[in-house]
Amino acid sequence: MNKLFKIKPIDRILAEAEQGANKLKRALSVWELIAIGVGCIIGTGIFVLTGKVAIANAGSGVIISFVICAAVCILAALCYAEFASFIPIAGSAYTYSYATMGELVAWIIGWDLILEYGVSTAAVANGWSSHFVNFLELIGIHGFPQRLALTPFEVIPGTQVHGLVNFPAVVISLVIMTLLIVGIKESARVNNIIVAIKICVALFFIAVGLFFVHVSNWFPLVPEFKPSVDAAQHGWSFSDIKNIELWKIIAHFFGHDPVNGFGGWAGIMLGAAIIFFAYIGFDAVSTTSEEAKNPGRDVPIGIIASLVICTVLYILMSAVFTGIVRCDGTLTLDSLGVDKGAPMVYAFKQVPSPWVSKYAAFLVDIGALCGITSVLLVLFLGQSRIFFSMSRDKLISPWISAVHPRFKTPYRGTVITGIAVALIAGFIPLGDIAEMANIGTLFAFVLVAAGIIYLRKNQPDRKATFRTPLVPLLPILSIIMCILLMVSLPLVTWIRFVVWMAIGLVIYFLYSRKHSSMNDI
Ligand code: ALA
Repeated sequence: MNKLFKIKPIDRILAEAEQGANKLKRALSVWELIAIGVGCIIGTGIFVLTGKVAIANAGSGVIISFVICAAVCILAALCYAEFASFIPIAGSAYTYSYATMGELVAWIIGWDLILEYGVSTAAVANGWSSHFVNFLELIGIHGFPQRLALTPFEVIPGTQVHGLVNFPAVVISLVIMTLLIVGIKESARVNNIIVAIKICVALFFIAVGLFFVHVSNWFPLVPEFKPSVDAAQHGWSFSDIKNIELWKIIAHFFGHDPVNGFGGWAGIMLGAAIIFFAYIGFDAVSTTSEEAKNPGRDVPIGIIASLVICTVLYILMSAVFTGIVRCDGTLTLDSLGVDKGAPMVYAFKQVPSPWVSKYAAFLVDIGALCGITSVLLVLFLGQSRIFFSMSRDKLISPWISAVHPRFKTPYRGTVITGIAVALIAGFIPLGDIAEMANIGTLFAFVLVAAGIIYLRKNQPDRKATFRTPLVPLLPILSIIMCILLMVSLPLVTWIRFVVWMAIGLVIYFLYSRKHSSMNDI
């Protein structure tokens, strides 16, 4: 029992990082850290999911969904900031929990982070694919077979024909995998350029889009709730686990049967639980702590500043989108046709200016493609780092972290990640994957907030450079807000999550516990 909760002493973690052969160079400035955060945050979430949520769930209330998610993330960011300044090590939440709550929790979080990083990568590849197909159309290459850009679970808009495989998503996943194997150095300079392009495109979207906003489209900000056709005919349905949020099941046991539909606070909360995906990535700054020049001061600034910048951009972009495209529950996603996966581009194609609908839409598409590629790269890299840390601790096989003799990269973990990501991205629709990534990330936030409370109670003498204010109140609030978003996710996502975590526990008890490097001390 003790072994399960055996903690890895912080001094040992720091010493391993300083002495190991893999000691990383401390070269990143505060600006580069902020750029890494922004580089990893702005991607498929804002360019794809915002439009989908506005059209299908929340209407202009998606702006409120963004504010809710921002609050959830700021609270989590304050907890991450304390840990990152205290344990400036690459493994992020996995390492923090190993140092505070012990091996079992560390394993759970490491296994869970695969959902955040690995599964998010697949979702992002999916968003990349939609913009790529759109790009082909915009440059006049028509006729990319739609069945090869959709998963078997999706149908070609307006038909009953199912897709075969999301081929561009598979290809981009394998290209990124190859780049990471041959050792593309995540050069801060390349990242800075991509981030600059991304921010310019976001600002461009806001500045140009503002001219075409119809203020009346924003109101009512909390759209009137409209039950879905099914719900109107058949009422509450337990069998519809794919679309029914967990809180509705809980409400059912208390005698209420809220039905599915568009709008209302239910739509806004479901929207928040989905577009939470847009915020995933600020914590990636903490995975670069080992490379920061002054981690104690700069990593907390990097985490919080990148989050604040993205929050402002997101709120403005969602306001412009819903100001241009009237989302009152009558518009359907299928009616967007080829733009279904690129709603921001669709918005510009709707404005009554030929110049904007052609060139501006083109620019937004290019910006999105480019920006999403950098998210892919950072998330993929994040996943390989988590694998690397877990393999170094022998919780997963050390075979995985072997370094390629020529390229000097952990190629085995990268290949495994690449193949899994390509398969998921090719065969599972974006919505499902993003929801899995969200539940995994929210769960990681819960554990990190709990870790802060635990740390303050059990190691009160350790003083971090950055201290989360109002402990335990703030972490408790963070946990409550994360749980609120988690219960707003569909039941099917919960079932998949529980199955995933159960598989993780089986692996831990059958393999990791016996092989852990902590067994030596
Ligand atoms: N936040 C990242 C995105 O939206 C994962 O693509």
